[in-house]
Amino acid sequence: MKAAQIAFESVVVRYPGADRNAVDGVSFELHGGELVVLLGPSGCGKSTLLRTVNRLVPLDGGRVVVDGSDVTQLDPVELRRSIGYVIQAVGLFAHMSVAQNVAVVPSLQGWTAPQIARRVDELLTLVGLDPTAYRNRRPSQLSGGEAQRVGVARAIAARPRALLMDEPFGAVDVLARTALQRELVRIVRELETTTLFVTHDVDEAFRLADRIVVMRSGRVEQVATPLDLFDQAATPYVRDLVHAGDDVYRRYFVHARELLRTANA
Ligand SMILES: Nc1ncnc2c1ncn2[C@@H]1O[C@H](COP(=O)(O)OP(=O)(O)OP(=O)(O)O)[C@@H](O)[C@H]1O
Ligand SMILES: [Mg+2]
Repeated sequence: MKAAQIAFESVVVRYPGADRNAVDGVSFELHGGELVVLLGPSGCGKSTLLRTVNRLVPLDGGRVVVDGSDVTQLDPVELRRSIGYVIQAVGLFAHMSVAQNVAVVPSLQGWTAPQIARRVDELLTLVGLDPTAYRNRRPSQLSGGEAQRVGVARAIAARPRALLMDEPFGAVDVLARTALQRELVRIVRELETTTLFVTHDVDEAFRLADRIVVMRSGRVEQVATPLDLFDQAATPYVRDLVHAGDDVYRRYFVHARELLRTANA
């Protein structure tokens, strides 16, 4: 499937009874195949904005447009099947094997058993799990990091046109996390799947993103490449955020990546 384009146009969300908007007039676009990271502190509206794309959260203003269609005009079930979704809690089905979990959407779409079996093995290999060792396990027999890999495999199983990832690597240790981040970047490049990835971890954002959307209190503070965010922060808030902590490594990383990118271009 062709990589999706997603546009947020003045999106507003207010939860019932709340005294302020959780998302307060957000506009930006994801180009086909792009990996965009939503970065910001707890409660700033990242998950809410992400969930407007697959209509898990209704809008109180503005529009979300996927490949030219307003999502409210699309069938929600079809929409959700065509967009992979990974949440922090992973949410694997406990009574199903790893293979059955990965095969949920292909099964719904009526793939044949041999097609499904082949795809499951291909995906488990892609996320770094040996199919022979893992396909028949239950979620309870997996480590947190392994379960998250299965969650990623499930989300991309039916070649979704877009991928929504809400802090998918929150539950894993730093080493596994770095490996998963590297794999995710490789997978997204390989599949050319448009991806919206939520995190509050600045280093994670810098490692993954083509562009970063910095959010604060339901609003967009700045949309920029990691390099521009670093060198040309639009506001003191962004400057403090990207330079918080030890930013020597981050500086090195961002500039090295930019050099590689221009060398390859
Ligand atoms: N179902 C809900 N009902 C009412 N208010 C909600 C609901 N979900 C979130 N909120 C509120 O909306 C705001 C944005 O929440 P959201 O979950 O989008 O933040 P977030 O940026 O994802 O935070 P975190 O990094 O902690 O996951 C918060 O003030 C939160 O309390
Ligand atoms: Mg959240």
